[in-house]
Amino acid sequence: MDYQYQYDVVVIGGGAAGLTLALHLAPTTRIALITKGPLSESATLYAQGGISAVLDESDSTESHIRDTLEAGASLCDMEAVRFAVEHGQECIRWLTSCGVPFTRETESNRSHSYHLTREGGHSHRRVIHAADATGRAIETTLEQRIHAHPNIDVFEQHIAIDLITTAKLGIASSRCVGAYVLDKQRQEVHTFRAPFVVLATGGAGKAYLYTSNPDVSTGDGIAMAWRAGCRVANMEFIQFHPTCLYHPEAKSFLITETVRGEGGKLLLPDGGRFLSKFDPRAELAPRDIVARAIDHEMKRLGIPCIYLDISHKPAEFTLRHFPTVYQRCLEFGYDMTKQPIPVVPAAHYTCGGVKTSIRGRTDIVGLYAVGETAYTGFHGANRMASNSLLECLVFAMSAAKDIERELKTAPPPPPLPDWDESRVTVSNEEIVVAHNWDELRRFMWDYVGIVRTTKRLEKAKRRVDLLTKEVEDHYRHYRITNDVIELRNLTLVSELIIRSALSRKESRGLHFTTDYPTPDNTKRPTPTVLCPPNYGREQERPGTDPHLTLV
Ligand code: FAD
Ligand code: SIN
Repeated sequence: MDYQYQYDVVVIGGGAAGLTLALHLAPTTRIALITKGPLSESATLYAQGGISAVLDESDSTESHIRDTLEAGASLCDMEAVRFAVEHGQECIRWLTSCGVPFTRETESNRSHSYHLTREGGHSHRRVIHAADATGRAIETTLEQRIHAHPNIDVFEQHIAIDLITTAKLGIASSRCVGAYVLDKQRQEVHTFRAPFVVLATGGAGKAYLYTSNPDVSTGDGIAMAWRAGCRVANMEFIQFHPTCLYHPEAKSFLITETVRGEGGKLLLPDGGRFLSKFDPRAELAPRDIVARAIDHEMKRLGIPCIYLDISHKPAEFTLRHFPTVYQRCLEFGYDMTKQPIPVVPAAHYTCGGVKTSIRGRTDIVGLYAVGETAYTGFHGANRMASNSLLECLVFAMSAAKDIERELKTAPPPPPLPDWDESRVTVSNEEIVVAHNWDELRRFMWDYVGIVRTTKRLEKAKRRVDLLTKEVEDHYRHYRITNDVIELRNLTLVSELIIRSALSRKESRGLHFTTDYPTPDNTKRPTPTVLCPPNYGREQERPGTDPHLTLV
């Protein structure tokens, strides 16, 4: 039984960005909040370090802007940077008013009473946090408010498949009017009709074999927006976090950068420090530099990991600041108050995404993108630690304001056709999906990782082209499943990463290639913007999607 739902706004994604946007709109607007797993499962839930914001009198907006621009390696958009930094305090005030329990100073003679920690690239202590589980504190606090709000209907275990645009329906105007969504428990595809759709689907870390990201981070929003006709930008800039726990069962558990911020040292197996050889800021250099230095030393010495040591600090200090990390490491046999812990880099953050304005608008009227899915220009070629949650909050708030204004004059969406499964059958080829999923993540890790070469990128391009054909063939012939949706999206996002990486003939920020090992300073650096084949098209060719039958 397929349902048609009708809302003012459909929000796809329940991390920091989606929840913030929904809560800001809810007083005046009927909202469907769709998440493909349980509501809390998101990258947000696992965020450890905190949120950057100018909160201390010794700090300044100009200093936060300067640090962000420096980390972004001349590719940040100045308007987006200023906008995000200037709205930081307001967002933190909103979170505290919602009840997020940020860690307080034990003793304070400052104008505020919160403990601020440090991370790489920040020249001041400006990271507000809830011990080492900041994301959990945000997600669980906001989630309670979402459930309590009468204007928000939550659809958990529902995965969005694709957006519905008037262009797709053959109507000559270009607007997003809804989405097709698979109810994973009932295995039914429902139609969500709304004049506004928001993509808040997070990043695409699962394109890589080793990642700090949860399983939901499969780049769905970026892929859906691209297929609908939106431009994407800066997809080559994938951030690798330098320190994930090295253990076969730890599933790339992150060891927060604030461990280094509070004095943790990175060591080689012989106990020697090495980072100052690469950057005078040593352990507090931005992540791209630290991750590359670790990668270099691991390859040079043929070692599987390096070590992070904070055992010189009093045990009481470590337990107070890092209770989650301490406990998790202990479960794997490492007592971080007494010994160094083994760590490796892993894919962590997607700096690029759906190109948006500071109001969250995409290239398609009625379609917004916020959070890690979006490219606002804030991060440039490298995101500074704790600037991501800030971006989620600031741009979700500004998109909410924009939608609220626009709702007054938006035309009601036309009637929408149901998802059509009359031309597909149940698959007996699931092994192909599983195989292609593994193959993709492995070659992305080996060929499109921390250090790149043109030759390896070209190899990756040939493989991803082949996979694209196979996955599209599967999509056209078989009933849709969660795994096919995610693999289709990951394959597309990987292709966008590879194409962007191939087109950047220099090394800058997170994109490092041995064929062009330095930044090209002969011209002004520009973001990499890719246009889909249907960009700007008012009407698409009929029959493009086998599941859409127009009457
Ligand atoms: P997410 O929080 O990832 O939420 C995405 C949502 O979209 C989920 O609800 C998911 O179910 C849903 N979704 C996805 N696809 C679909 C679909 N097709 N249909 C329906 N629903 C869908 N940043 C910081 O600033 N500070 C930190 O300390 C920090 N620590 C981090 C630690 C870890 C381990 C990780 C992985 C990231 C960390 N980051 C940190 C980055 C930051 O957490 C993320 O960038 C941010 O939380 C992203 O929020 P989001 O709302 O954009 O997406
Ligand atoms: C961390 O705590 O190290 C992650 C911070 C971030 O990704 O911003």
